[in-house]
Amino acid sequence: MKTRTLSFLFLGMLLVSSLSGCSNPEAAKSPSFDEVLMSRRSVRSYDPTRKISRDEVRALLTAAQEAPSWANQQPSKYYVAISEEALAAVQNLVGGNKERISGAPVLIVSAFERGKSGFFRGQQTNEVGDGWGAFDNGLSNAYLVLQARAMGFDTLIMGMRDADGLRQYFSIPENETIMAVIALGYRAAEPNHPEHRALDDIVHFF
Ligand SMILES: Cc1cc2nc3c(=O)[nH]c(=O)nc-3n(C[C@H](O)[C@H](O)[C@H](O)COP(=O)(O)O)c2cc1C
Repeated sequence: MKTRTLSFLFLGMLLVSSLSGCSNPEAAKSPSFDEVLMSRRSVRSYDPTRKISRDEVRALLTAAQEAPSWANQQPSKYYVAISEEALAAVQNLVGGNKERISGAPVLIVSAFERGKSGFFRGQQTNEVGDGWGAFDNGLSNAYLVLQARAMGFDTLIMGMRDADGLRQYFSIPENETIMAVIALGYRAAEPNHPEHRALDDIVHFF
């Protein structure tokens, strides 16, 4: 009797779990935040056969807009290479990164408008100055790369790039500082998970 009750219970649980999986396929597809954090890595080899649409890039950048910024100044700007011509041009402006990102279907240039974050009525608020613009741009890029991973994409942030060449190609105004180029695509090979410093090297509790 006891064994029969347990068997029914077990079968019931199996049924419920399989039904919940079927009724909500999105839940099965969405990675947890931890999975996004842990699987986001710098990818240096992209599958050239897999494309990303303009709408997907827009969804990604909409998520990046949720990032906090100094007094909500939102200084970040993005220039997206998605056509064959623009991709070829940007590939030639990332120095030694060229081979790493040759299969990526999208390359995004991130920049920020100076004189916004860290400023009040035109005056620099503290010693960091336009460093706050770079800070805000980094925050919004962090949102971008994490959202990319949540959508199943991969990224490579590149600080090695030709800012003058990018400014000229995209007609980026002089009041914007060009920061990173971010490759976006699908991984062609599993990236390494780099080692991190011991937490006690970087954290001090008082
Ligand atoms: C601001 C910045 C600039 C970077 N520039 C490059 C680059 O030019 N080329 C490259 O291959 N990786 C670049 N990286 C990727 C780092 O090497 C990578 O984030 C780091 O090794 C940690 O690895 P992970 O991203 O897989 O965790 C850059 C990362 C950041 C945040």
